[in-house]
Amino acid sequence: VLPLLGLSFLGYLSGSLLGALWVCRAAGVGDPRQVGSGNPGFSNVLRLHGRRLAVATLLLDAAKGMPVLWLAIAMGMAPWAQGLVGLAVLLGHSYPPWHRFRGGKAVASAFGVLLVLTPWVALCCAALWTLLAWRVRTAALASLASAAAAPLASLWLAPDYVLVIMAFTALVVVRHLLNIRRLGRGDEHAL
Ligand code: G3P
Repeated sequence: VLPLLGLSFLGYLSGSLLGALWVCRAAGVGDPRQVGSGNPGFSNVLRLHGRRLAVATLLLDAAKGMPVLWLAIAMGMAPWAQGLVGLAVLLGHSYPPWHRFRGGKAVASAFGVLLVLTPWVALCCAALWTLLAWRVRTAALASLASAAAAPLASLWLAPDYVLVIMAFTALVVVRHLLNIRRLGRGDEHAL
């Protein structure tokens, strides 16, 4: 149990480094938490600063959980334990201790975690996200639909990970409660 606790703690710390803040700081543009949707994530950076910075944000957020997950796999941890380490990464992203526990919505970081644990599920979700974002031009809708699709895809593609992926989905939904309210009112930000 000690290795699992240690790796989860490392995962939480890596998750808590917010790609959007590093990228915006390096590019000398404003803090994405102060403008737009206020979310330190890929979609808000895309709306505010365009594709280049958004892709950099996505890459950093997706990559940050990978080393600790590779370690979990190398140590021979069971799928459920790898999933808990992945969940710790997402919790770090959404509740970072350095930013008064106010982080992002865990979509890009979940994509990175899934890419290591269940690559085919990650690719299906990414394809669905891209298609929906392109067709409906609403990031939150694309994220919620992909989060809902992930456990279904894993039932078929990675059955050992269904339960942990359901936990990822629950976190993403909780982090989108304000978006869900705006979607209901019809005034969600367009991409
Ligand atoms: O990836 C986050 C996205 O689903 C919603 O972000 O900025 O549109 O609230 P935002």
